Amino acid sequence: MNTQALDTNPLDIKGLNAQKLSDALKKPPQQLGVTPLFGPIRPKFRLHLYDCVTSTNTVAWDLVNQGCPAGTVVIAQRQEAGRGQWGRPWQSPLGGLYLSLVLQPEVPVERSSQLTLAAAWGLSTSFSNLGLPVQIKWPNDLVVQGRKLGGVLTETRVEGQQITTAVVGVGLNVTNPVPPTGISTAELRQIDSSEALNPLVSLETVAAIALYGLNQGYLYWQSQGAAALLAAYRANLANLGQIVVLDGHQWQVEDVTESGRLRVK
Ligand code: BTN
Repeated sequence: MNTQALDTNPLDIKGLNAQKLSDALKKPPQQLGVTPLFGPIRPKFRLHLYDCVTSTNTVAWDLVNQGCPAGTVVIAQRQEAGRGQWGRPWQSPLGGLYLSLVLQPEVPVERSSQLTLAAAWGLSTSFSNLGLPVQIKWPNDLVVQGRKLGGVLTETRVEGQQITTAVVGVGLNVTNPVPPTGISTAELRQIDSSEALNPLVSLETVAAIALYGLNQGYLYWQSQGAAALLAAYRANLANLGQIVVLDGHQWQVEDVTESGRLRVK
């Protein structure tokens, strides 16, 4: 079993404590929402913690360019130029989790969208295992009762036709302020006072849940294949049967394909 590597820079940052994060990562896997199948696997995360960055994804790519391997993690307390899906900015005030994980999947480029599906599935499954019913809004949103808890932004480097490196970025609302369409774990804890949700207001614990969640999504995809991942992803999907508006027309969501597209009718 690998031990956790803790490469911190700097050692302690306001709002997210390196030692508490290290302790959270050593919790028993079931306390972090890991399904029993992946419980025995303890990945080696190399943590790089920052007070404020432009984007944790950008910093992760810088570290990749300096030779940092798979398992490199960047977490910042704030981002000044956080990136969201579809080129949108990602507001990143204090109290939120802003995290990026480096992976080296070595898969054909046409499977790149599966990385996002795997990440969203892994995260939603971990939170659901812990009693927080998080669903996926296609392709990359994490929602609770239709309100956005967080999202995933995957960026890839391709050589030839293979993805050689990926940076999977996760933003999650923890104690930060959110708009009416959003929700934070702290707000959920206020609505539902059950003790099971207590750990979810700690930034360090949510970071550990997110890291193991990403890892379990990745392992599930790599070990069980795309078809199994798609089936599991569909089971956590909030959109099935819903009406969406595309190009000014109303469509009913039928499915998500292996290429990561939405099938509508
Ligand atoms: C979305 O639009 O739903 C995806 C948001 C992803 C935001 C995270 S925050 C950490 C990482 N760094 C970024 O710049 N973006 C991602």
